[in-house]
Amino acid sequence: MPVSDRRTFAIISHPDAGKTTLTEKLLLFGGAIHLAGEVKARGQARRARSDWMKIEQQRGISVTSSVMTFERNGVTFNLLDTPGHEDFSEDTYRTLTAVDSAVMVIDVAKGIESQTRKLFEVCRLRNVPIITFVNKVDREGRHVFETLDEIADLLALDVCPMTWPVGMGGTFEGIFDLATNRLLLPEGDSREFHGKVVQTSGIDDPQLDEIISAENLAKLREDVELAQAGYPAFDGEAYRHGDLTPVYFGSALKEFGVDSLIEAIATHAPPPHALPAEPAPVAPDAGQVSGFVFKVQANMDPNHRDRIAFMRLVSGTFKRGMKLTPTGHGKPIAIHSPILFFARERELADEAFPGDIIGIPNHGVLRVGDTLSEKADVRFTGLPNFAPEILRRVALKDPTKTKQLRKALDDMAEEGVTQVFYPEIGSNWIIGVVGQLQLDVLLSRLDAEYKVAAGLEVAPFETARWITAEDPKDLAEFMSLNRGAMAKDRDGNPVFMAKSNWEVGYVADRYSKVKFAATRER
Ligand code: G4P
Repeated sequence: MPVSDRRTFAIISHPDAGKTTLTEKLLLFGGAIHLAGEVKARGQARRARSDWMKIEQQRGISVTSSVMTFERNGVTFNLLDTPGHEDFSEDTYRTLTAVDSAVMVIDVAKGIESQTRKLFEVCRLRNVPIITFVNKVDREGRHVFETLDEIADLLALDVCPMTWPVGMGGTFEGIFDLATNRLLLPEGDSREFHGKVVQTSGIDDPQLDEIISAENLAKLREDVELAQAGYPAFDGEAYRHGDLTPVYFGSALKEFGVDSLIEAIATHAPPPHALPAEPAPVAPDAGQVSGFVFKVQANMDPNHRDRIAFMRLVSGTFKRGMKLTPTGHGKPIAIHSPILFFARERELADEAFPGDIIGIPNHGVLRVGDTLSEKADVRFTGLPNFAPEILRRVALKDPTKTKQLRKALDDMAEEGVTQVFYPEIGSNWIIGVVGQLQLDVLLSRLDAEYKVAAGLEVAPFETARWITAEDPKDLAEFMSLNRGAMAKDRDGNPVFMAKSNWEVGYVADRYSKVKFAATRER
């Protein structure tokens, strides 16, 4: 089974750091596309097909994640796209549960930004190993040491520079690869990388005096010496544990460092491995096909109520037509038309291996978090719900539409568009999201797909926590004393709604036997 040759990864970054450009170049270098620019063009064509995605067009962002597969030198890369806009949804978080590693893209002038940091924290929760790509060195940026130290300090990670930029911005003269001692050089007016490489014996090689300006060279020699003394050597084990990040400098736009990045993923990033499950972790060579749904995309075509469930295959060799059963609910489903997401177009998959993503068309049977397997005897754990950062009360404009509203909210909670909470007292349902954009998606879909006109009002609560207690009596007591703040999530789990984060802390101190969780595993 070709598992050791698979790399399933995502790119995490803050908007504008260059994720789209880098994705394009990765696909280009991976031979999946021949013209840079196709990723964006394809995205627009796809978006044009779907009505509710109007918001995406208006805002010029992509709400949906997609999967891109390419092959190079016998290695299959599955790149899972995580939407990188400011207001992101739980989709983004959950996509990170389906990858084995991540590439963190940082703008050399801006360093670690808020979104990068949030996504990094999700990776850390799951010990997802991270390769860092510091982008845009063809522009003026912060000094290399400043960048490296910021990553180390803010993220509490060991950093190991693998390449070093020779000058930056106007004085940029190339990239020096510290592992291979190769110097990558720009060419032509555009100063792009077209494959011009000089093999040296090291930074002291006299050849360099002929190629690099005296000023840049002196600085390079001094910096590299300092760096080699000051930062740990690359340690593959520490990287795979999520304790160390190798750092590559480059310019996606000018195609510097992209090759090294692909090589790094192929060489160092972990292949699919055992994932946490009940009753026991499931390894790729477990005796059956199994996987889990990390994303459901509904109504890609507004004329059909079709949905695509994105399943990460964890074990076994999947074959088209195979029957898999969702654990805990439902009958076996024969998967006749699975979709593999190649960069060029969607293709029907005949076979898929651990680490691959399969799109399974269905009519709403499959939910985010579902485990699918041949024997229906395992359940993958660790697909989290996140405490919402914005809560809103749903105000129905036409009271006869209560049933439709409930159905719509349940559906969308299932897809992970929003969370829904049903308060113990009163009939005003509350929805929770982690980003503003999810609210717009909700209203637009309520209107377009369910014909329900609704508005959103400020809720008297600001955040929510899932509560549990070892002794059910403690939980019951807490709930009866705080009924006005109690609600149930869509699966019936008790949730405490708080007016502020401060209140959560205050209440948690007073009721030490009750646990307040900001994430809930499904
Ligand atoms: P994102 O997906 O992370 O949001 O970033 P994206 O790739 O769209 O890049 C954001 C902007 O940064 C784009 O410029 C892009 O061309 C530029 N960029 C990306 N990588 C590099 C790089 O290595 N060097 C330089 N100098 N610029 C880079 P834009 O003008 O906003 O968009 P566009 O009109 O070029 O598409």
